[in-house]
Amino acid sequence: MGIRIEPLDGQIGAEVVGLDLDRPIDAATRQALYAAWLDAGILLFRGIGTTSERQLALSRCFGELEVHPVESIRLEGCPEIITLTSRGGVEPAVFYFDGQPIAGHIPWHTDLIYTPTPCRGGLLRMVEKPPVGGETGWVDTAAAYDALPDGTRARIEGLEARFDFVHDLREMRFGRPEKLELGTLGNVEYPEFPDVAHPLVWTHPESGRRALMLSPVQLVDMVGMERSEGDALLEELVAHVTDGRFSYVHDWQEGDMVLWDNWRTMHSAFGTPPDCHRVVHRTTIRGEQTTGRLL
Ligand SMILES: [Fe+2]
Repeated sequence: MGIRIEPLDGQIGAEVVGLDLDRPIDAATRQALYAAWLDAGILLFRGIGTTSERQLALSRCFGELEVHPVESIRLEGCPEIITLTSRGGVEPAVFYFDGQPIAGHIPWHTDLIYTPTPCRGGLLRMVEKPPVGGETGWVDTAAAYDALPDGTRARIEGLEARFDFVHDLREMRFGRPEKLELGTLGNVEYPEFPDVAHPLVWTHPESGRRALMLSPVQLVDMVGMERSEGDALLEELVAHVTDGRFSYVHDWQEGDMVLWDNWRTMHSAFGTPPDCHRVVHRTTIRGEQTTGRLL
């Protein structure tokens, strides 16, 4: 087997060292990788993601892959991979942050939270690293839950929040970057999704750990709570989970791959200057746990 699991330089995650993707991954290695993923929340594989085949082979160690509901971002000829790119005529959204234009920025979110069954995980591969920027951050929402005061944990037990698909960041109600202005929404087309309610606190079915599920990009309001009261609660929780105490930021090299547990983390693409190209490929690991309900 010959792999080592080493902690990352952050508050979540581990690096897998010594994995050989030139050979099939044997059952014992697969089990060790799965256990490390469950334990660490995110796994980094440095430099070994050189092809789509390698990415798919590694991704399949963690479950069945799901074809993403947004058809326009699927990789041609390989529907289990989505591509986030500024190549091939794709124009990413550009927003001005405090006067500075940034392309492809996606604030903190949980993938597919705008559906009743968010995915189990995702695996990102850096295909073309931009010369400037392009980092990705992850937050450990289980550690953030554990760090809440007892009174807050009791207060949010059993509550639900409402989520909607948001592409225009000006529509974000929580955790929106300050002094945000629209440059262009880009030319990627997205379908409509109905609103979904999810519990604010999830119990991870495999680890038993509880985690805060907030996903500020798509977070609309609290279900069944007076709006000003619900907003105050959500503002407090979003500030807590994103205050930097529970995070890891990855500064990519080409060929790096990062796998995350989507039931226990949120992530954010930091974006690049608009003239920098960045190409990443993502696989989506199917979730079997339906936590949400359509509203
Ligand atoms: Fe994402």
